[in-house]
Amino acid sequence: MRKKIIAGNWKMNLTLSEAKTITSGLKVASDSSSYEVMVFPSALHLESVSSIASGSKLIVGAQNAYQSGLTAMTGEISPVQLAELGIKTVLVGHSERRQFLGETSEFDNAKITYFLKAGLRVVYCVGETWAEREKGQTFSVLEDQIKKGLKDITSDLFSNLVIAYEPVWAIGTGKVATPAEAEEAHAYLRKEIGGLFVGADQVAENIQILYGGSVKPDNIKELLAKPNIDGGLVGGASQKLESFLGLLK
Ligand code: 13P
Repeated sequence: MRKKIIAGNWKMNLTLSEAKTITSGLKVASDSSSYEVMVFPSALHLESVSSIASGSKLIVGAQNAYQSGLTAMTGEISPVQLAELGIKTVLVGHSERRQFLGETSEFDNAKITYFLKAGLRVVYCVGETWAEREKGQTFSVLEDQIKKGLKDITSDLFSNLVIAYEPVWAIGTGKVATPAEAEEAHAYLRKEIGGLFVGADQVAENIQILYGGSVKPDNIKELLAKPNIDGGLVGGASQKLESFLGLLK
């Protein structure tokens, strides 16, 4: 039985005081929730947010990290530094990083491999653009992102891996994928993962696949009712306490 996850990706939003307020409210709610509740604040806010969340079930993750121990890598963050703050979860491959910062699935593979081996939990984001969907390329794009991003990841590492299907055209646009469209993509992703290596079917059955893209309190229920949708990775609606609590309800 896969546990459902509600994760808030705060991106480059929120002031420190806003992040603290939401975290304080979520701390209580996450302790009484049957979901795993996660937040991904700005790197600058990780220390404050994780100190507020400590002692609760609220999981605090980083939006990005670099695949190395302490070294000369200007502007980046090492898992060693995250570990000092008790942070063991990291997002990889968000479409904003793919689109605007040139991240590729090959680069993400290096990150995912390193982070999983270092004992971190990884949320790997995949998804097609509107142009790709219109050209009927949704499944081939997802296949490519899965095959390249998860290349040579061994079965023992999959228990710390979560996938997030985030169609680029649904992110921040208010244009949510229908539950049927999302379910179709999730089922496809699960099948692809099941074909990665001999014996991967069990891994595919167990892996949590989140949907992201204009998830709101009023559409989350229908999405989560689908058999292959194991939670939400939420941007805008996670950035106000009231609507985050609405998602959990
Ligand atoms: P929105 O919920 O704002 O569409 O963002 C989704 C997202 O990118 C989460 O990572």
